[in-house]
Amino acid sequence: MPHYFSADNNTIKSNPKVIAFRVNNEDLKFNTDHGVFSKDNYDRGTEVLLSFLAVDRKFRTALDLGCGYGVIGIYLSKAYGLKVDMVDINKRAVELSKSNTELNSITADVYESDSFSNIKKTFDLIVLNPPIRAGKEIYYKMFEESINYLNENGEFIIVINKKHGANSAINKLGTIYKNISIIGKKRGFYVVQCQKWLTIWQICDTILNCQNTRIFVFKSLF
Ligand SMILES: C[S@@+](CC[C@H](N)C(=O)[O-])C[C@H]1O[C@@H](n2cnc3c(N)ncnc32)[C@H](O)[C@@H]1O
Repeated sequence: MPHYFSADNNTIKSNPKVIAFRVNNEDLKFNTDHGVFSKDNYDRGTEVLLSFLAVDRKFRTALDLGCGYGVIGIYLSKAYGLKVDMVDINKRAVELSKSNTELNSITADVYESDSFSNIKKTFDLIVLNPPIRAGKEIYYKMFEESINYLNENGEFIIVINKKHGANSAINKLGTIYKNISIIGKKRGFYVVQCQKWLTIWQICDTILNCQNTRIFVFKSLF
């Protein structure tokens, strides 16, 4: 049976409509339909993610992985002027996202991709509201592959609810990325930021803490 996370869900009866909501300071409109994620309203997880996301002003490019009808990518383009790619495995979601870029007067590259299979670029920012219902194997693979599609100082940001396994997802991300921070928590959702490397300040902190411990041990000896 086709689901919102299936490639072939164009067989689901169509019932198109337009919904509108405010994303932070942006008033956005979306064509939605049966067979796509959160077709009737602004998903709570996406809302929490975008309320905590602070985009580095040096960033120029972003990937909205599993874009659905396009909320994240369209917001990133509108609010931050990022050059955005938006991909989904679901054909109907891709068609809706394409129409929604026009509806919100932005341009973006929107195309089908099973995870990263059709992605040929790297990005400053990759954002994912993971397809929980598709299963852990699918979105853990997305976590693993994401690091290969990030520019050197890039960030991978996800949102996940505690009841959907936020703690194990954070542990999994810790096996892939060196630098993980929880940048926000609300209504059970965790927004997790992952970077390839520790920042210079974190390295200094680690060294200073080690030094303090050494000084403490040294002083205690005398
Ligand atoms: C939780 S929804 C998020 C949709 C949208 N980003 C949002 O926040 O409203 C996850 C999306 O991932 C897509 N998806 C599922 N499996 C995928 C895969 N293997 N490759 C790409 N996208 C996938 C689903 O079709 C769905 O649109």
